[in-house]
Amino acid sequence: MSRRPFIAGNWKMNLGPRDADTLAVALKRLLADNTATDIAVAPPYVSIPAVVARLRHTGIAVAAQDLDPLKSGAFTGAVAGEMLAQAGCSHVIVGHSERRKLFGDTDDIVAAKLAAAYRAGLRPILCVGETLAERDSGQARSVVTNQLAAALVDLSLHQVLKLTIAYEPIWAIGTGRTASPAQAQEMHAAIRAWLAEHYPREVPASLRLQYGGSVKPGNASALLAQPDIDGALVGGAALNAESFRDIVAAAS
Ligand code: 13P
Repeated sequence: MSRRPFIAGNWKMNLGPRDADTLAVALKRLLADNTATDIAVAPPYVSIPAVVARLRHTGIAVAAQDLDPLKSGAFTGAVAGEMLAQAGCSHVIVGHSERRKLFGDTDDIVAAKLAAAYRAGLRPILCVGETLAERDSGQARSVVTNQLAAALVDLSLHQVLKLTIAYEPIWAIGTGRTASPAQAQEMHAAIRAWLAEHYPREVPASLRLQYGGSVKPGNASALLAQPDIDGALVGGAALNAESFRDIVAAAS
């Protein structure tokens, strides 16, 4: 089965509504001719409405970077999936390593957030990945498959089929130090093998696995040429319209 490439840009805590709109204008122009690749951008919460309005009818989807597990109530500062869907998001990133490390998202919280994403009708991009110490001690594969097992435990087959998984080795995020294409491919193949062990064939065959961690125009082609790498989750390089366009082009 051929999987359609999926490139997503995670803008992290960058670009308020005005600056996000400026980037969206540029993306709309530079990516107008794209038909071969699924594309999403994930602005900060406050910039979502501006980006949704700007990218309407472009085929570029808008994702949130996180969501709260709960639907509504007295939870100051929290944002529910239902609100994100109402604001025009179609996707949401769940379990990013920055959320796990800096904001205390445990495996249980990640699983609850995944459930909340489906409840709200959002398609999750689930992030997994090991630290450098875990890689150096030979635990990378078990860390990643344990994260998968914990996140997917309560999902139905129907839900799993709507998932995108992003492998983001923590040591490669924002460091300029990318996993080599061979290292990334090895982990992507391991993730697909884990999916094959636990789900019917259509799951490993159809799920898209993104690589994330210092993806740039200069390394995207080699990464995306790997058989089990179906896309990228791009941080820093997604803040520049030309760089993001070049990464999308490398996937096509
Ligand atoms: P960088 O591309 O800046 O390394 O960020 C990767 C990432 O964390 C995307 O979610």
